[in-house]
Amino acid sequence: MTKITAAITAVGAYVPEYKLTNKELETLVDTNDEWITSRTGIKERRILKDDTKGTSYMAIKAAEDILEKRKLDPKEIDMIIVATATPDMSVAATAAYVASEIGATNAFGYDLAAACSSFLYGMSTAAGYIESGRYKKILVIGADKMSSIVDYTDRTTCIIFGDGAGAALFEPNEEGLGLQDEYLRSDGVGRNFLRIEAGGSLNPATHETVDKKQHFIKQDGKTVFKYAVSSMADACVNVMKRNNLSNEDVDWLVSHQANKRIIDATANRMGLKDKNKILVNIEKYGNTTSATIPLVLFDFEKQFKKGDTIVFASFGGGFTWGSIYLKWAYNSN
Ligand code: UT7
Repeated sequence: MTKITAAITAVGAYVPEYKLTNKELETLVDTNDEWITSRTGIKERRILKDDTKGTSYMAIKAAEDILEKRKLDPKEIDMIIVATATPDMSVAATAAYVASEIGATNAFGYDLAAACSSFLYGMSTAAGYIESGRYKKILVIGADKMSSIVDYTDRTTCIIFGDGAGAALFEPNEEGLGLQDEYLRSDGVGRNFLRIEAGGSLNPATHETVDKKQHFIKQDGKTVFKYAVSSMADACVNVMKRNNLSNEDVDWLVSHQANKRIIDATANRMGLKDKNKILVNIEKYGNTTSATIPLVLFDFEKQFKKGDTIVFASFGGGFTWGSIYLKWAYNSN
């Protein structure tokens, strides 16, 4: 029997129109374009300004982008995973709403929460279902309205995050393309370094938690940075080693976009000398949490060729991190 692998067969995306530039941030907090650019690589991020719209709005648009491109009947979709740190509501899966809104009436769906690694974990989950033979079309959508949890008086976080959504369709492949291997890890030691303190079962919402601004995302940037650099690089090197991939064999690095310096450090440890292999779009969107990886796929899709070797990498709150080795399954030109 032919082995079934799980391949990405289409990508879609949506980012809001509004651009929050470094210049505008200078009017909100004590910062400047030079500091933000040199420390993070970010020039601007997109913000979903409409208060009546949540993460699902962007997730639906990204999913519809794929349906349109592939001329797919939404009834063919078996499953929808919405990777997100900012679901529309804490109870009622955003994925269920997305499925209904796009007409995927034969699908089931749920949200996957692993901070910035949600999309990577979602890829692994989708691949497992596809490889089992149980489902044939799975949409993994990474979407976050980070502006809903960012304190725009906190210069250590507001300069980093942005809103956006990206999606990938996973289907069975019989040519050996698609997901080849993964190295995923988590460690609760990181829980206090990157978190939203209140609003969960441990510390439910009260007037006091609102007054203390405990519903905003907070991070100890330096510590997160340190762990991100070593863990993400270790994961990539591990995946390369156990699959006998040299730096020459890797065609592309598709990394979570949290900080350009973290991406460069990871690429350096992997021995990637050709800068064109290191895919970066952080300057346009900032850190969109679950959406960074599919937004990179979307922006650079036209450069990928069938059979290309892609190494994915992510690191986020929890801590959660990992690397995936995937062979691209189609030519998009
Ligand atoms: O996606 C989830 C995972 N998240 C991450 O991976 C984020 C990881 N961390 C980072 O990317 C970086 O730590 C930051 C971009 C958040 C901060 O960069 P840094 O190089 O680690 O800066 P720092 O926190 O060490 O601060 C250096 C200086 C400090 O001033 P002093 O103490 O040296 O006088 C800060 O107060 O820069 C100051 N600073 C700022 N200055 C201008 C901090 N934020 C700002 C700012 N503008 N926005």
